Amino acid sequence: MKSFMEAMDFRHACKSFDETKKISKEDFLFILEAGRKSPSSFGLEHWHFLVITNDAVKAALRPACWDQRQVTTCSHFVVLLAKKPSWFEKGSAYLDMSFGRKAGGNTEMLKKVEAVFENFKANELKPSVEDWSKMQAYLASGNMMTAAAVLDIDSCPIEGFGYDLLEDAMKNSIAEFDSEKYSIAYAVAFGYRIKPQTPQLRLPLSEVATFIE
Ligand SMILES: Cc1cc2nc3c(=O)[nH]c(=O)nc-3n(C[C@H](O)[C@H](O)[C@H](O)COP(=O)(O)O)c2cc1C
Repeated sequence: MKSFMEAMDFRHACKSFDETKKISKEDFLFILEAGRKSPSSFGLEHWHFLVITNDAVKAALRPACWDQRQVTTCSHFVVLLAKKPSWFEKGSAYLDMSFGRKAGGNTEMLKKVEAVFENFKANELKPSVEDWSKMQAYLASGNMMTAAAVLDIDSCPIEGFGYDLLEDAMKNSIAEFDSEKYSIAYAVAFGYRIKPQTPQLRLPLSEVATFIE
């Protein structure tokens, strides 16, 4: 197993995977655990991971994803879904469950959160509740990609898709996709690299961090 920093060095946006190599169930569950345990705003776990290993489904989704070969050459193609705003409506069963499960039930926090959502909706504040929900999926996916790298598994985040095209393709090819309840945040392909990694290009720390002392 790689150390954290070794995994950070290993991870790159893999453009083409070895189609003959498949990720084991055990390893993929490890990756999903990293997603599941990720932090989320108010602990609302906005995500749902649609894990696609079916070749015909991958092929059906590829054209909507700018025809990127990662979609079909990978072992596991994960579409990260985001709970739609209805999950977070005042009085929703989901909000009640989320705050009710905290030690002793946190009704005070529930009321505060409901008021925040109402304010965002009433005043059309940014981000919209839908965008805010999608943003959480990015955090989970970062942890999943690092977890994969710990196990020498490659990944490629995929934001290159037409939203409506991908949604239509998913509606047509994935019975389990409930577009009433979930919107698409983005996707990540996981598998094993077929070519060596390209150099990791990053700005120096002095350009990306400022210390206020
Ligand atoms: C949100 C997000 C979306 C991305 N979408 C794509 C994509 O659709 N196709 C692709 O080849 N790379 C995609 N990338 C990969 C980036 O281009 C890549 O991470 C960046 O160039 C840095 O390279 P590295 O990850 O190999 O270090 C995406 C990255 C992020 C974070």
